[in-house]
Amino acid sequence: MTRSSVLELLQSDKFLQEVAVKGWVRTFRSNRFIALNDGSTINNIQCVVDFENTDEALLKRIATGAAVSIKGTLVESQGKGQKVEIQVTDLEILGDSNPDEYPIQPKKHSLEFLRENAHLRIRTNTFSAVMRVRSKLSYAVHRYFQDNGFNYVNTPIITGSDAEGAGEMFGVSAFEANKAPLNEAGEVDYKQDFFGKQTNLTVSGQLEAETYAMALGKVYTFGPTFRAENSNTTRHLAEFWMIEPEVAFMDLDGNMDLSEDFIKYVLGYVLEHCKDDLAFLDNRLTQEEKSKPQAQRSEMSLLEKIKFVVENNFKRVSYTEAIDILRNSKPNKKKKFQFPINEWGADLQSEHERYLVEKHFKCPVILFDYPANIKAFYMRLNEDGKTVRAMDVLFPGIGEIVGGAQREERLDVLKEKMAALDIDEQELWWYLDTRKFGTAVHSGFGLGFERLVQFATGMGNIRDVIPFPRTPQNAEF
Ligand code: 4AD
Ligand code: MG
Repeated sequence: MTRSSVLELLQSDKFLQEVAVKGWVRTFRSNRFIALNDGSTINNIQCVVDFENTDEALLKRIATGAAVSIKGTLVESQGKGQKVEIQVTDLEILGDSNPDEYPIQPKKHSLEFLRENAHLRIRTNTFSAVMRVRSKLSYAVHRYFQDNGFNYVNTPIITGSDAEGAGEMFGVSAFEANKAPLNEAGEVDYKQDFFGKQTNLTVSGQLEAETYAMALGKVYTFGPTFRAENSNTTRHLAEFWMIEPEVAFMDLDGNMDLSEDFIKYVLGYVLEHCKDDLAFLDNRLTQEEKSKPQAQRSEMSLLEKIKFVVENNFKRVSYTEAIDILRNSKPNKKKKFQFPINEWGADLQSEHERYLVEKHFKCPVILFDYPANIKAFYMRLNEDGKTVRAMDVLFPGIGEIVGGAQREERLDVLKEKMAALDIDEQELWWYLDTRKFGTAVHSGFGLGFERLVQFATGMGNIRDVIPFPRTPQNAEF
């Protein structure tokens, strides 16, 4: 008999047929009712054991967490809460689970406790729902770009250039610690190292992606990136996944359109394809919100928030306008911001971004034309000589979800900028070549995949939307 998934059985109306299913016991109640889950859906199938004719020793082994193989008859359920159930005729324990030792009991565990058991937390409803949504979101990312003529590029994870300036880097070396050879100056002699130079884990695939956009036209990356910044926040990981489209002949307006269209597509995709998981997560968030004081509660449910983003235009605001709004805002005047906004040129902190999105505009915001000196060297200088064609997409509850720009395509302007920032031309010779040979207007952005998953699932902490989070002092598993 071929095995069916729980999802198939729950959707089937093949009553009175023999079926086979394998999965893990979520609960076993009254020595009779097994709630079985196999990961194919958040929903369990109820399997009814004929306990009077079942060996007592076997009944004892039907414990939470045990892997079982079940054969039986699919019948219309008598009980509430499910349409079908299986009347068990044959039950085999494939793998026992000792209830005295198994950490994932059928009760509410704290997210902190589950983080310490990241290898088992996927067996809970919350984490299986989050990770199924994450999987569907990555599929939607590829679908969006593939359907729109983009080529998927795998940029290197080990990189020899550290000029991006996006954050602190993790070094990569084949030297044994303490045994690295030194040069005459007493510094580690990387010439003798594996790559013959100092190398790092990449903070972004952008610079390499740009070279590919200059031939393939439209490209995107989707891979792991690494930042050694010591940010212990609910929005930062040391290892995270980034999606970076890069498009030739596209200016900043096109870049804003692309980011908005892309985000709406992938969120729309999960609304349509993750209904059960999102319904569960929506309810989870609503319960969580109830434990907060009234004033801090969100006005919208998770599903309403996602629909709102999909159905409404993002507000596009220049940095200069944003500074005016912030300077005159209530929290600024009442000195409620940790970093008060006094003048043009200030870097925006997440408290400011969230004020703009959550309090002032109450919708996603795209901020553009930032001061040149708070943004990266490769962003295109505007006519005013002091702002660059940068854009950040800011999301409610998340803050910055996308950072991008129109790139500086003029060789002379780019070189001047690099000189001013002390960036070695020699090190980026290959990047400068793109501006020497057939340079063209081009733009792109980076979207932090985990921040997107956070938004789609309503999870408050970024550590709960990646299977095995890497954060300061934490690389277990
Ligand atoms: O704004 P960032 O630093 O931009 C870049 O790296 C550009 N090279 C992207 C490009 O134009 N191709 O990072 C992009 C996004 C952020 O908006 C944020 O969503 C996410 O990456 N991000 C992080 N996510 C989790 N943990 C961290 N430590 C993150 N740092 C950035
Ligand atoms: Mg950024």
